[in-house]
Amino acid sequence: MIVCICNALREKDCREAAGSPAVRRAGCVYRQLNCRVRCGACVATMKAIVDELRDERQARAAAEALAEREPAAVE
Ligand code: FES
Repeated sequence: MIVCICNALREKDCREAAGSPAVRRAGCVYRQLNCRVRCGACVATMKAIVDELRDERQARAAAEALAEREPAAVE
């Protein structure tokens, strides 16, 4: 799926760029992919991708912390 028509950004590439822990906002994804927002129609989708991946990273980190603290709780 194409996320950004103006920059021809595929969802796969956006998710890959947004997967970096350094990416905290949608604007970071455009910078990582060496482009910038033009019409802005894709910003909400980009933000949703960044938020989703950030939430997944946080959930994974919380699960890992819990597993370290209480190994029996996650088995
Ligand atoms: S669709 Fe992404 S800037 Fe226009």
